[in-house]
Amino acid sequence: MVCLGNICRSPLAEGILKSKVNASEVFVDSAGTGGWHVGELPDKRSITVAKRYGLDITDQRGKKFSPYDFETYDHIFVMDNSNYRDVIQLAKDQTEIEKVKLILNEVFPGENMDVPDPYYGGDNGFENVFQMLDEACEKIARRL
Ligand code: 4NP
Repeated sequence: MVCLGNICRSPLAEGILKSKVNASEVFVDSAGTGGWHVGELPDKRSITVAKRYGLDITDQRGKKFSPYDFETYDHIFVMDNSNYRDVIQLAKDQTEIEKVKLILNEVFPGENMDVPDPYYGGDNGFENVFQMLDEACEKIARRL
């Protein structure tokens, strides 16, 4: 799960997908394309919305996406079109590019919609993001 800062959207996506899959079968992790928040806890507002739905994401710490992640992971879900461009720039071949998918295309195939960045908005943005990611992760979990 990849976003820009790895403190708002992708930690929620990681926590939500983890809650829907068996950890012995599916390994889920998250990262940001930017490194400003490496080592930090998720944003308080993400922690709060996750807690409201019974998820604890406080074990997560910010990481930066690495080109090696293309080798580690089978699927790389990005939150928005800007993340998509940033991630595929690091790919070394077509096989790696094909691992990268916009997460909302799981719900709205081919529409290339963004999960809006809630960082500069109010708390309601985090609730909206949670709902979008919950729907997308439900589809991903069923398929996996
Ligand atoms: P995220 O939100 O990509 O959903 O984690 C952001 C968090 C921090 C920043 C940008 C986006 N930032 O510029 O610090």
